[in-house]
Amino acid sequence: MRPYEGRRVLLGVTGGIASYKTAWLARLLAQAGAEVDVVLTRSAREFIGAVTFEALTGRPVHTELVAEGHALDHITLARAAALIVVAPATADFLSRAASGRADDLLSACLLAADAPVLLVPAMNDRMWAHRQTAENVAHLRSLGYTVLDPELGPLASPQEGSGPGRMPEPERIFAHVGRMLEARGALAGRRVLVTAGPTREALDPVRFLSNYSSGKMGVAIAAAAWRRGADVTLVAGPLAVAPPHDVRVVHVESTEEMHDAVRAELASSDVLVMAAAPADFRPTHAAAGKIKKAQRPDSIALENTGDILATTRDARKKGAVIVGFALETDDVMRHAREKLAAKALDLIVVNDAREEGAGFGVDTNRVTILSPSAEPAVLPLLSKPDVADAVLDRVEEILNGR
Ligand code: CTP
Repeated sequence: MRPYEGRRVLLGVTGGIASYKTAWLARLLAQAGAEVDVVLTRSAREFIGAVTFEALTGRPVHTELVAEGHALDHITLARAAALIVVAPATADFLSRAASGRADDLLSACLLAADAPVLLVPAMNDRMWAHRQTAENVAHLRSLGYTVLDPELGPLASPQEGSGPGRMPEPERIFAHVGRMLEARGALAGRRVLVTAGPTREALDPVRFLSNYSSGKMGVAIAAAAWRRGADVTLVAGPLAVAPPHDVRVVHVESTEEMHDAVRAELASSDVLVMAAAPADFRPTHAAAGKIKKAQRPDSIALENTGDILATTRDARKKGAVIVGFALETDDVMRHAREKLAAKALDLIVVNDAREEGAGFGVDTNRVTILSPSAEPAVLPLLSKPDVADAVLDRVEEILNGR
């Protein structure tokens, strides 16, 4: 699936060393189907060549306000764009954009465009911290531009040490592009609570019971909901993958902690997606000190942790859409239907743990989505991000009907 097929994105590049990362951003955009019109400023060309971007986007790169005797490129480019991204945006470019200059192609495009604009500053930390830059950024934001804060981290020159000034990684910028480009559906502005990953139940201070969940499915759901404009909270057990960058994350360890975090958020959530695999039982007694080899117990007594979906029903916001997952190995659909009813869910996403490409750890999933009323939707083998989109499409349908 190419989510941005045919969408025109104007990608401006100004003269910063971070422009090497922009090449990767151009590739991500082109892979997602976008038609990427790259505009390089004069100083950007000192850092990176037009040929690189031409090869990555398969389109001509633009550099001059007046080219081959005509000066209308900026109007055509700006009007065609569904979104303008400038990465990296230098301190000098921010200053020129903030004062409405139009003496080069990129700044002229900004003035001529109706499209939303995403500016991604990158510069020396002292330049970023200067009040003049801060005022320029505040002014650009007041004009409606989205300006990302640079990240903390080692800056390009070893003498500069580390400080805020670093351009975010291309994947993060790409996610912001998605949030600005994707259609505003029913999830825009809604509060979405997602759980992900396994939980751990302590046996002693160094050992635990858990399961093979990686958290990939929940992380994909959280990222997709965020791109659709939702305000997302991810309650995460120990994950094997990084959580999405701009999503609020509440880290938990045990099922009880996950229960408490879900309960605290539920009353203000419009959607709950329980993609986590909480441990269903825990050792009845967790030893206070490490159990020594010589003291090995012959068996471990277990007790139930309690089902989070079932025990937080009273905390749900009225009209909220509740989605559960079911991982089954036998009699898959019957068990899933029982869970759908018993946990009072709007949707249950079922996967058969024995099918190839489905379940824990892998990057794909083969699921069926059940709801109390509609026919089951049997989806083919998909990447987890594509499964996330399919689930959220249905969540939006339900929200639209409420
Ligand atoms: N779940 C939960 N609390 C638990 C265990 C599971 O809220 N303690 C949620 C999961 O996040 C998932 C759904 O319940 O959305 C179904 O989880 P699953 O492990 O398939 O089912 P269980 O209810 O644990 O039932 P069983 O062990 O009988 O399969």
